[in-house]
Order: sequence, then C-alpha cells, then structure tokens
Amino acid sequence: MSKRITQGVARPAPVSVLINGRSVEAYEGESVLTALVAAGVLTMSRDSFGRVRTPFCNMGVCFDCMVDVESSDGVTSRVRACLTPVRAGLRVTVAELP
Ligand code: FES
Repeated sequence: MSKRITQGVARPAPVSVLINGRSVEAYEGESVLTALVAAGVLTMSRDSFGRVRTPFCNMGVCFDCMVDVESSDGVTSRVRACLTPVRAGLRVTVAELP
C-alpha cells in the first residue's frame, strides 16, 4: 500500500522501479528515498557494525540512506537515496532486515 498523499496532488504518469526485486510505482524526478518510503521501505543499509540505518536528514548530510542503484544501462552506484532522482527502470537494493 502506498503511503503517498493522493488528494489534491497532480503527478505525471508513474514509472516502474525495482526495490530488492519488487516492482513499485514511482514518479520520475522524485527522490529514490521518497519512492522507498512510499513503498514502506525504511531500512536503507547497515553500518560497519551491522546495525540497520534508516534515513535521518533527507538532505544529503547524514549518509544513512545509502543504497545501491543500478540504472537501465547496467551501471551500479552506491548513492544517497535522498539526493538521487528516480528514473524509469532503476533497480534499487537496500539492506535486508535479519
Ligand atoms: S537521509 Fe541523510 S543523507 Fe540521505
């Protein structure tokens, strides 16, 4: 179930992105973090001690939203989800909960 605001909001046609292999709807130009949270994903990565990290600042400072993103051209990058815009066909990998 999407956690998006639906009333009084106009958005472009949705695109499909994969989050850990699961297809979800997102909107080009919104942040990957927005797409993740809207899909109910709050765990982004793990620190060097194996502790789960979840977004904190939503403005590129805390680095707690690091995810792996593979674009449609096959290039995988470790990025901050809050600063990375959604594009059609992105494949996002986030940490799995134990
Ligand atoms: S949420 Fe802090 S860098 Fe993305």
